Amino acid sequence: MQSTEEGLQQVDDLVQTYKHSCCWFLGPFYHLVRLFHPDYVKPLSNDSAPNYKSFFSVSGHSLLISNGEVWSRKRRLLTPAFHFDILKNYIAVFNSSSKIMHDKWCRLVAEGKTNLEMFDHVSLMTLDSLLKCAFSYDSNCQESSSEYVSAIVELNDLATRRQENILHHWDWIYWKTQQGKRFKQALNTVHRFTRDVVQKRRTFLSQQRETETQSDVALTARRRKDFVDIILLTKDEDGKGLTDEEIQAEANTFMFAGHDTTASAICWTLYNLEVMDLMEGRDGQEIEWEDLSTFPSHHVHQRGLRLHSPVPGVTRKYTQDMVLPGNRTVQQVRGETLFKIYK
Ligand code: HEM
Repeated sequence: MQSTEEGLQQVDDLVQTYKHSCCWFLGPFYHLVRLFHPDYVKPLSNDSAPNYKSFFSVSGHSLLISNGEVWSRKRRLLTPAFHFDILKNYIAVFNSSSKIMHDKWCRLVAEGKTNLEMFDHVSLMTLDSLLKCAFSYDSNCQESSSEYVSAIVELNDLATRRQENILHHWDWIYWKTQQGKRFKQALNTVHRFTRDVVQKRRTFLSQQRETETQSDVALTARRRKDFVDIILLTKDEDGKGLTDEEIQAEANTFMFAGHDTTASAICWTLYNLEVMDLMEGRDGQEIEWEDLSTFPSHHVHQRGLRLHSPVPGVTRKYTQDMVLPGNRTVQQVRGETLFKIYK
């Protein structure tokens, strides 16, 4: 099933026909169970359910694909990076990235363009913001291309296409294909970039610790910390932090999990604002932190996420037979048993 509007329409049709769930079997080796109804999703969302997250490896062993104890430890270490207040420091970055995009659109209109596909522009804008917020890295990616940004865009595209071809789900087939080879190449570029950023930042932080005085310490504590600083400095109860490899995996996950999802949400928010005629007089206007809860986009954004969810489904892999309501059992097979859960 494709990750397109037609693909989502097909899911809608399946929901109309099967109401709660349906199964695909590829011989005895591959079972795909699609679940739509909350009663069927409940047994799978239970913490002790024998499942694990199933993703194609784009970002290494990060929080997104971890399970059980490993997930709990990483989640505890990374929670400060997810704190809502962190966003307060980034409002200026968001406004400046949006301004670059808005200026580009004004230029295109002045040149006579009457319509454009906005998703790619918004996606570059979210990538630009994420790079500035996570690494203090100004990629200028909205105006010119960079090897790293092209690699991220290519990986996103290849990961989506891989899902659509069932034969490509097996690593030993995928890595032999042209797409698989391109994937590995782009992955190397991304890993090289993140490794460099993490190493430079670690060196910078340790040099800073060695030279700073007491008053500098207080100043540094108040200074805006990038995502990469937060994860470099975080420690668990035993005083142990994340390894460089773990930090790189988390940083890559932020880039992949963060930019396309947010771009999709922004595009649908803009669409809903326009449809509901709420844009009047706000064109090109900057926003302040306080605006976030009062500006109508807050509600429209939530409505957009419900109606046009950027992540319409998640996948779980099962390690033993799974009993669903109505005493139906999905048997674990020797190959893959995947559950695709739609929202
Ligand atoms: C509208 C925007 C977003 C949507 C709709 C979204 C959606 C999701 C969903 C559905 C999951 C769960 C996946 C699963 O359990 O299989 C998830 C996990 C995650 N997302 Fe997002 N996301 C968004 C933005 C972001 C951003 C901006 C970042 C980081 C900069 C991010 C980082 C993550 C991470 C690290 C996880 C793993 C969390 C964990 O397992 O504890 N996401 N996201």
